[in-house]
Amino acid sequence: MGSSIAVALVVSEYPVIAIAPISSDLQHAPEHIQNQLRHCQELNLLNAPIGSYFANINLTENYEELKKCSVVIECVTEEEDIKSTVYTEIEQRVTDSTTIGTNTSAIPISQLQKHLKYPKRFLGIHWAEPAYATRFLEITCGKQTEMDTAKRIFQIAHDWNKEPTLLRKDIRGFITNRLMYAVYREGLALHEKGIAGLEELDKAFRYDVGSWITLMGIFQRMDYRGIDACATALKNLFPLLSNCQEVPRIMKDMVEIRAKGIHNLEGLYSYTEEEGHRWDKAFSQFNKDIYHLADAYSNNSN
Ligand SMILES: NC(=O)c1ccc[n+]([C@@H]2O[C@H](COP(=O)([O-])OP(=O)(O)OC[C@H]3O[C@@H](n4cnc5c(N)ncnc54)[C@H](O)[C@@H]3O)[C@@H](O)[C@H]2O)c1
Repeated sequence: MGSSIAVALVVSEYPVIAIAPISSDLQHAPEHIQNQLRHCQELNLLNAPIGSYFANINLTENYEELKKCSVVIECVTEEEDIKSTVYTEIEQRVTDSTTIGTNTSAIPISQLQKHLKYPKRFLGIHWAEPAYATRFLEITCGKQTEMDTAKRIFQIAHDWNKEPTLLRKDIRGFITNRLMYAVYREGLALHEKGIAGLEELDKAFRYDVGSWITLMGIFQRMDYRGIDACATALKNLFPLLSNCQEVPRIMKDMVEIRAKGIHNLEGLYSYTEEEGHRWDKAFSQFNKDIYHLADAYSNNSN
């Protein structure tokens, strides 16, 4: 995902030093980045030729280059040991006041902070993939993060064309994963009880929630629908919702058969290779449409 963050930054006119510490990554990175820039061009995100953005990414294996950076974003494999080694490499090169962010999806920021020499300048800067075509950016403070640093990144994030959120306390799953996994728990429980199939659940979510969520989020939706009706529904439904603490059977089965979904064509649904490609293409096109649609309606919520 690091390359898509680098592309998001150069597209916003922020020059990038991109460290690729593994030689094979460095070899493939230029082509990968150019493909992503081409995608940006298709999305009408570029004001200049691709080459001028590409020239603003200095791809290197050499951590020394980080000396000049005021913000460093770590985006390596989701393993604490690897991240810890990378923080040592970074801190050996940057100044004491350089902000260091992590794109971790699930490791608590306070836990990662323990690996830093100067933990107060460290925080979560969590992007959604593809970083250049999504508005999401979740900024999370760990126990030791200095609030001024988090507020500064929050401000800069607007220049990166993001709609950032600032989480003042570090909680597992941050905001969106906690919300989404609450929905998964209920959906999987309905499926397990035989009340609705996965296809029906997906269809209901796409055509109900999907028709308003980018505009309103969940709480403005409550205001729009009517608070009284929502309060009554909360009272009636909360006691009935799943409170399951276990990974549901269907997910355990998937892990057992090593299903990786669209990536190996085996998952909750089954796919042919052609269907897999069609989903990739559709998602890319959808990113374009929703990115511009969200922009067109962004003033409604600000
Ligand atoms: N992929 C996503 O959609 C997504 C979304 C949000 C957040 N994230 C987070 O971003 C981070 C990276 O995710 P990813 O999917 O790109 O991961 P990945 O496993 O594909 O690895 C990313 C990069 O880590 C580097 N790396 C691997 N081993 C290393 C080592 N020993 N030393 C130094 N660098 C090493 C390599 O350059 C590799 O390309 C993770 O923390 C992940 O949770 C990913």
